[in-house]
Amino acid sequence: LLKGFVFDLDGIITDTAKYHYAAWKRVAQDELGITINPAVNEHLKGVSRMDSLNVILKFGHKENAYTDTEKAEFASEKNDLYKSLIQQMTPDDILPGIADFLKAITAKGYPMALASASRNAPFIIDRLQLAEYFSAIVDPATLTKGKPDPEIFERAADLIHLPYAETVGIEDAVAGIEGIQAAGMFAVGVGSPDVLGKADLLFPDTAHLNLAQIETAFNAARK
Ligand code: BG6
Ligand code: MG
Repeated sequence: LLKGFVFDLDGIITDTAKYHYAAWKRVAQDELGITINPAVNEHLKGVSRMDSLNVILKFGHKENAYTDTEKAEFASEKNDLYKSLIQQMTPDDILPGIADFLKAITAKGYPMALASASRNAPFIIDRLQLAEYFSAIVDPATLTKGKPDPEIFERAADLIHLPYAETVGIEDAVAGIEGIQAAGMFAVGVGSPDVLGKADLLFPDTAHLNLAQIETAFNAARK
């Protein structure tokens, strides 16, 4: 029986993926001399700040070019840029369909927890005025491994006492879908089949997210 939901934030609840990308693009160009593109960006989604930097360095064949101290500086420069981009966010920045989707889930009594790799997640949820919907927010600083490891999704479910097999995870990132499935949860993807083909159920965008469809697909998969 479906018991509750764990949610990704960036790219699902709000389109911060574009701000993460813009900030990394600048730092990669100006500091590392690496030009990233949307294909690289798919591999930055869901991935922690330092892991994202490592993906970019690998892409630019510079994985051994910098010390840990330098890398920490690049990551912090990216975060400063990113933070300046999210300062002005308002509830208008909630992605289409998400407010109604969260309301529908709450109306049916399913608890929700946030499983975002972002240390900025509580700030953003606050700016969007969505805090009331989430019974728990995972603190990514307390995790040992990032997505695609299942740890963050397991922690989110643990915080609201959900059995993994009865939990649905919602994600826009390849690493996220993999992590949800590795936790034994049902993975709902939002995005294109070329990128998220492995999802248990896929919606093209957030406006199409539909609770009844998720319940039906979940029940069919668990029979
Ligand atoms: C994830 C984003 O939610 O959070 C990634 O999809 C980002 O792109 C990660 O790198 C970490 O975020 P932050 O805000 O802690 O740098
Ligand atoms: Mg995401």
